[in-house]
Amino acid sequence: MTDVIFARVAHVLAVVLWIGGVAMVTTVLLPAIRRNYPVAQRFAVFHALETRFANQARVTTFVAGASGFYMTWRLDAWDRFRSLGFWWMHGMVLTWAVFTAMLFVLEPLVLERLLARRAAQAPESTYRRVEWLHRVLLGLGLLTIAGAVAGSAGGNLFNW
Ligand code: HEM
Repeated sequence: MTDVIFARVAHVLAVVLWIGGVAMVTTVLLPAIRRNYPVAQRFAVFHALETRFANQARVTTFVAGASGFYMTWRLDAWDRFRSLGFWWMHGMVLTWAVFTAMLFVLEPLVLERLLARRAAQAPESTYRRVEWLHRVLLGLGLLTIAGAVAGSAGGNLFNW
């Protein structure tokens, strides 16, 4: 069982660094840039600072996903996906899939160019959209963490 404990430790550390970083970007970095830079520069400044975090997030997302699937396999917990009571298992996979798609496919192939073009034409609304996107992603991450911590201890966040 020590390998499952090791996987759980890696899983939680990866989630802490990853979602903690999303919280930092959402609640500190984006508002600070909005307050301290003229609208035309905001997106470029954000992009320059966020690139380093995006690279870290690619690693932590990968570790969280690999350790998560490993635990599911070792605990033989696949049948949980058939029960709505285990919504937090679906939540974990959904959150992971959304971030994986954003970080590995959408951002490098589509979003980066699309947002840079939009920011040149409509900087105010593009920056607001980027802020809202981060708020939604942070909300999804926090809800998933709350559900998973309660669920893995045998509870259910919405039905005690
Ligand atoms: C491919 C995606 C993922 C899979 C397959 C997965 C799978 C698992 C499994 C099997 C457990 C152990 C459950 C138990 O002990 O009964 C777990 C725990 C946990 N997961 Fe995930 N997970 C994934 C992604 C995520 C994500 C994206 C988050 C957060 C944003 C997350 C947060 C947690 C937390 C907080 C725990 C509870 C740790 C504890 O209280 O000991 N997981 N995960």
